[in-house]
Amino acid sequence: MPKKVILDVDPGFDDAIALCIALFEPTLDVIAVTSVGGNCPPDQATRNVQAIVEQLDPPRWPRIGAASPPDCPLPADGRYQFGEDGLGGANLDVAELRARHPSEKVIADAVRAEPNSVTIIALGPLTNIARVFQRDPELTSLVGELVMMGGTIDGPGNITPAAEFNIYCDPEAARTVFLSPSTKTLIPLDVTNQVILSFDLFNRLPDASTNVGKLLHAILPPAFRAYRQRFGLEGIHVHDSVALMAAIHPELFTMREMAVDVETVGELTRGATIFDRRRVPAWRHNIAVATGMDKATVIEAMIAGLATAAKR
Ligand code: RIB
Ligand code: CA
Repeated sequence: MPKKVILDVDPGFDDAIALCIALFEPTLDVIAVTSVGGNCPPDQATRNVQAIVEQLDPPRWPRIGAASPPDCPLPADGRYQFGEDGLGGANLDVAELRARHPSEKVIADAVRAEPNSVTIIALGPLTNIARVFQRDPELTSLVGELVMMGGTIDGPGNITPAAEFNIYCDPEAARTVFLSPSTKTLIPLDVTNQVILSFDLFNRLPDASTNVGKLLHAILPPAFRAYRQRFGLEGIHVHDSVALMAAIHPELFTMREMAVDVETVGELTRGATIFDRRRVPAWRHNIAVATGMDKATVIEAMIAGLATAAKR
């Protein structure tokens, strides 16, 4: 029986790659794709989700949620890495905007309709998830599982020395979600940074004669250029696809029960994920955190997932 999932995304090229895999993955039933501001402003994120789904034309179209403005302005400008439109300037066409309902309503309705059956895969700031839990606290115990890309255990942040981007964009939302009684899994930078989509791997992706290949060849070259210019890297991170692999192939990941909280006020540390690893921790374990993975198999599973998408 395919796993019912909702993907909450801020596309972003790595969100887009994860959507290419998820929308054609036979073990997943993507019932909704909900937009959230992060790599690009909320309205652009909604437009990008719509454009990606249209371009991919999956066997079953998901419901689409529209991103609404966060409670506080996005603190980070993702254009340096993701371009003006969040997708490297691909400026994908959108036939018609179908996203009529706010993301938090789409998520809440889907979870309430299928209690304890829906996995939410959160690949952007946790603004929508926190709103769902704040507006209907009962839903924290009705979500099947929450799998999140975000945070960092021991490594540096990627948007500040202390913070990872998704948490940094809305630390109050992240704290609300991390401290909620929902079943949570976190895939942090310590794991996702290990995977680089190199030029060699790019050459193994579907060609532009397929819907998936046409989308990837439109949005990834600018990402490679941005990574080379900004980081001197000959390749790009694919954080969200690694997190998606943890939802599809959890057996490829090493998980550890941990106690986490989020710094929300520090001048230098706002958005930092803090783990209590003292010999006698005072904080209760509240999250399963990925601490390792079978990297080679994860990469092959990602490439295979994109090949499956191209066959449809
Ligand atoms: O820090 C990586 C995360 O921030 C990814 O989800 C990427 O898409 C950006 O949102
Ligand atoms: Ca993302």
